[in-house]
Amino acid sequence: MIDVGDATLAGIDRTPTRRVLPPQRLDALSRDILALKKKLNAVILAHNYQVPEIQDVADYVGDSLGLSQQAARTEAGVIVFCGVHFMAETAKILNPGKIVLLPDLDAGCSLEESCPADRLAALQATNPKFYTIAYINCSAAVKARSDVICTSGNAVRIVQAAPADRDLLFVPDENLGSWVMEQTGRPMTLWKGNCYVHVEWTHAVITRIRKEHPDAPLVAHPECTRAVRLLADEVCSTEKMVTWCRASSAPAIIVATEAGMLHRLQKECPGKTFIPAPTENCRCNECRFMKLNTLEKLHDCMANLGPRVELDPGLIERARRPIERMLEISSRPLENAG
Ligand code: 13P
Ligand code: SF4
Repeated sequence: MIDVGDATLAGIDRTPTRRVLPPQRLDALSRDILALKKKLNAVILAHNYQVPEIQDVADYVGDSLGLSQQAARTEAGVIVFCGVHFMAETAKILNPGKIVLLPDLDAGCSLEESCPADRLAALQATNPKFYTIAYINCSAAVKARSDVICTSGNAVRIVQAAPADRDLLFVPDENLGSWVMEQTGRPMTLWKGNCYVHVEWTHAVITRIRKEHPDAPLVAHPECTRAVRLLADEVCSTEKMVTWCRASSAPAIIVATEAGMLHRLQKECPGKTFIPAPTENCRCNECRFMKLNTLEKLHDCMANLGPRVELDPGLIERARRPIERMLEISSRPLENAG
């Protein structure tokens, strides 16, 4: 039997980690962070799931694709990455000569954990025709073993551009992978990993919230299960959620993704109401890894120039090629996307 990963990740502590600081402390820290940013010639990149106070001091807030594009083009000397480890690692791979800071090095990801590079190598060895497409939510070692990287924002495009004579292996998110198969009609072998936050939304609970708000459309992230995606009006990356919600005429929208997204949506669409989709068993819809970063830790990492993301130069070289391939495909004009 072929080993295609393990969807169950026992032992993830689902307890929310958030601690709210008094407003004066928040203001003082934010002012210091902006001063440090100037002094260090740093850029602060933040994912849409970061806590509001981090989003509010960042130079750029966005999804994994936007963040990697920003990291590829920044001229800043220091990159302060407010997101999870694989995102900061991607920034380091694209900028080997720069200091890349991550406020908390323990900010991992259940998808990254589900796919160790040695198990991927064992699966790849079973079929020499495999063309490996890795969702960016994976380690540098997995990226180094992949032909091309994708994010939720460009996965359909990346799969459409894959060579027709190869067998596609998609790692590590089985839900994003099955959604991309539906969109492209291209069969793929899927690694059985998932996001422990997004699989908390169930068909039953989403049906209930839709009945409570019959006029509100639902946007869901492709990391949600198929049963949930089928109930959605739009399935897309976190950045496309902003564009979709801005363009929608609906005054209220149900959102099935991590809770940090609500702050970004509220800022971008001030007149609208965003309803966080409730989860069945989980005590919250927060990613505990994303929430390990706090404004205090952001301040301290800039003051101390650490913790830093460091990688072996050989690994950087091997992991960079599939990321650059992704960036190149994403930058093609749409009519030449294939
Ligand atoms: P996006 O690239 O859509 O922001 O997704 C990243 C992620 O980790 C979702 O859980
Ligand atoms: Fe990983 Fe899920 Fe957290 Fe995104 S929300 S970083 S996929 S654990």
